[in-house]
Amino acid sequence: MAYMNYELVSKKTERISTKYRKILTDIPVPESIPILKELRKYEPISMSGQPLVVWDNAENITVRDRWGNKWIDFSSGVLVANCGHLPPEMKRALVDQINSGMIHSYCFPNEPRAKLVKKMIEIAPKGMDKVFLLTTGAEATENAIKLAKTWGTRTVGPDKNVIVTFSGSFHGRTLGSQLAGGIPALKDWIGALDPTFVNVPFPDGYRFEDTSFDVFEKSLADRGIGKDRVCGVMMESYQGGIAGFYPGEYVKKLRKWCDDAGALLIDDEVQAGFGRSGKLFSIEHYGIVPDIICCGKGMSGGLPISAVIGNSKFMDIYGPGEMTSTHSGNPLTCRAALTSIDLLLKNKLVENSAKMGKILHAELGKIKDEHGDIIGRVQGKGLLAAILFVKSGTKEPDHPLAFAIVERCIQKGVMLYAPLGPGGGTVKINPPLIITAEPLMEGLSVVAEAVSACRKELKR
Ligand SMILES: Cc1ncc(COP(=O)(O)O)c(C=O)c1O
Repeated sequence: MAYMNYELVSKKTERISTKYRKILTDIPVPESIPILKELRKYEPISMSGQPLVVWDNAENITVRDRWGNKWIDFSSGVLVANCGHLPPEMKRALVDQINSGMIHSYCFPNEPRAKLVKKMIEIAPKGMDKVFLLTTGAEATENAIKLAKTWGTRTVGPDKNVIVTFSGSFHGRTLGSQLAGGIPALKDWIGALDPTFVNVPFPDGYRFEDTSFDVFEKSLADRGIGKDRVCGVMMESYQGGIAGFYPGEYVKKLRKWCDDAGALLIDDEVQAGFGRSGKLFSIEHYGIVPDIICCGKGMSGGLPISAVIGNSKFMDIYGPGEMTSTHSGNPLTCRAALTSIDLLLKNKLVENSAKMGKILHAELGKIKDEHGDIIGRVQGKGLLAAILFVKSGTKEPDHPLAFAIVERCIQKGVMLYAPLGPGGGTVKINPPLIITAEPLMEGLSVVAEAVSACRKELKR
């Protein structure tokens, strides 16, 4: 389904000035329209979906444009700025790396890369001893798929090549990762689907009411796929589009099933990692250890770097030079990741995510109590939340309402990204993990006001 797009027209906007928010112009800013028009002219439409703010600079928990407007950031730049926007330590590290005279070394060794892979293994679950660095999240998930398929077919046989994923899941937009994902609209163009990629229902207890693990086994059996065929099962540790977690028992059973099947359990933490849900890796909520973890987004606080972590028994399956990438272990991005991880640990940001998450979810609970007929669910943990807006009294997503709420929040000085998830009815709230109670509460009061105002305006 194609989502709505924000209109390139400035709207009369109330002026606001608080410690954390400033709205001094109409939004979109009239002077920004030519820039926005250039983007629409020269980029594919697919790049145009976000609210019409031309980001100029961002610091800690706020984002600014160059016309004096300032937003409390409830987006973290789509779950990237976990340690806040460009903290001084990050700026120093990046400038220092540039001053060192080396910002690229291809796959020739460099010291920041050596430090980062060591650090990643120190923080990864026991049993993981190798890290492969890449650039984007989709590359990481695609690489994990490749590792599982190579490992299955080389160590067991040519038919051990099936990857199981979950309906509604999102693993990126490269061909392999998109094929693995569970959103049919993203793969209708692929034609005859590769039968070695299989989706099973995500046990969300909402669209699929039966959350028992029997459904997983039955779905495979119905397609004639035995355990012997599966080389890997890939799960997001929470489903990103809805911030939906699996039932704990389900994941424990899945871990055991993978052990029995000799299949790798791949944990896609590209969105969920580095403290977002109040644990360093969100898989920790289930008390199990996966075989592979894919990281991205929040790993570096802003520079493009991703990683696949796992055990040498399959990470070492390729020979020298057979699994590389031009920007793998780029020294500048490695410095960003090292700094971001240091800040997360030193400043106890994972713990802050859990603590501030309590406030976030309590406040969203109040909004849901007030608007229970148009809010299907509020999900998430820590500083991760998703509000599903529905047509009154139904489970049908209300995209126009969610879209209007995001637009109003932007006009009131709270940065949100466009609604997403099934039917585009979900508004996600995920501030940087450094946020404190005061700006969090201020931003949430804006969200609450926007829900009331938009439902009135749209007669919901
Ligand atoms: C769970 C998950 N996996 C993979 C990706 C793809 O990451 P990227 O956009 O960096 O390729 C995303 C991005 O949103 C994601 O949320």
